[in-house]
Amino acid sequence: MKILTTVKEVREYVKEARMQGKTVGLVPTMGYLHEGHGSLVKKSVEECDVTVVSIFVNPTQFAPNEDFDAYPRDLEHDVKLLTECGADVVFHPEASEMYFPDATTTIVPDVLSKNLCGKSRPIHFGGVCTVVGKLFNIVTPDKAFFGQKDAQQLAIIKRMVRDLNFGVEIVGCPIIREEDGLAKSSRNTYLNPDERQAALCLSQSVKLGKEMAQAGEKNTKVILDAMIAHIEKEPLAKIDYVQSVDAITMQDVEEITGETLFAMAVYIGKTRLIDNFIV
Ligand code: PAF
Repeated sequence: MKILTTVKEVREYVKEARMQGKTVGLVPTMGYLHEGHGSLVKKSVEECDVTVVSIFVNPTQFAPNEDFDAYPRDLEHDVKLLTECGADVVFHPEASEMYFPDATTTIVPDVLSKNLCGKSRPIHFGGVCTVVGKLFNIVTPDKAFFGQKDAQQLAIIKRMVRDLNFGVEIVGCPIIREEDGLAKSSRNTYLNPDERQAALCLSQSVKLGKEMAQAGEKNTKVILDAMIAHIEKEPLAKIDYVQSVDAITMQDVEEITGETLFAMAVYIGKTRLIDNFIV
């Protein structure tokens, strides 16, 4: 597996692959990889001839009060996992390689980014779209793979690709969970043992909500109230939001009539965790 650090090297690598008639898959990540990322890489390896994984903790998607500096990094571990998963290239640029100091052009997602996580992280999705758009232009992948755990990010990126005519197919992949149900996340590493136990209230409320919906409950308030009541039983948990939205438009819905996303962000101590399900 090659480790490349410059845009020029990646472009040359991809050009060579294309000359050999190969298809290219991209898995954008911020590193500190776990089995969730591994599942995206394996899917790309299955579906594309060449898989490029970017590892870049993107500064523009963190607000000044967020965990950019503390965000966990372990390139050695990541390289090992990616080699095992069959990735061909790691693109690991410095911030100065990705951003010109006097850059003035960004991608600003509109209405889809105003709800859910966008309410408490107003600059987040602009940073995500800008860096993902740049990665699409650098790697020019045929397919790009994203986790359903970041359901709003996935919806926003799909919309960006449609709106701006990026020539890439976006593939959403299922949430990967620990044995006890906790959704895998690089941020789980922040949790102390008590918080790790408390964090189960997210996946438990997902399970509860999903069962209610599958049993035929159509009123989302009834489902959300039960999910919220479950989370509120956990003293270490503080809800940022628990909401039901249309899975495409990210707008609130009160009745399940089409694909509906139930999504939540919950602080466990200082760690903000997300989880969701779609019915
Ligand atoms: O989901 C992530 O890890 C990041 O938001 C992404 C898509 C790699 C952009 O920095």
